[in-house]
Amino acid sequence: TVLVNKNYRLSDEYEPDDLVLLEVPLYNRDSTNESNYLRKSAADALKQMFIVAKSYGYNLTARSGYRSYVTQVALYDRYVFTDGGEAADTYSARAGHSEHQTGLAVDITSDSVNEELTVEFGETEEGKWVAENAHRFGFIIRYPENREAEVGYTYQPWHLRYVGVEVASEIYENDWVLEDYILTYGLLD
Ligand code: DAL
Ligand code: ZN
Repeated sequence: TVLVNKNYRLSDEYEPDDLVLLEVPLYNRDSTNESNYLRKSAADALKQMFIVAKSYGYNLTARSGYRSYVTQVALYDRYVFTDGGEAADTYSARAGHSEHQTGLAVDITSDSVNEELTVEFGETEEGKWVAENAHRFGFIIRYPENREAEVGYTYQPWHLRYVGVEVASEIYENDWVLEDYILTYGLLD
């Protein structure tokens, strides 16, 4: 349940110690690419979710899992260069503030939106299924629609965060965001 957002950050040095290669369809099939790794519990859960999705004919793809601090530095800087800092801050985390550095967050998409990371994904059959079922596998849609003020970012139907089945289910059933859970249970120091 580690909280990483605009106010709470990881150290520059933090790296998970149990990253494993994802065993799901990958956008970038290079097995040495760090983005194809997640912490073991999240990787196992994602595999199960993709297997069940596939049984419904939904072809999901993982695009971006773990990201090191230095990768996030480069990514954020690129967004600032192309879009400006104000716009970048609405959708990209600054280094140290990205959940991707935890190894517990993954961006997923589907063939129906040409494997793009787009809000249209949320309108597809696959995206709707993910939104309604991800909690059964321990994931939440971390940046839901119309929750920008609470989570700090615009709607990202593709960004899943692993919190485990129990926590994800409670968040889903209460229509919470992760911050609500953390506050309700007083998990901040
Ligand atoms: N897109 C999310 C906010 C990140 O950069 O971690
Ligand atoms: Zn993401």
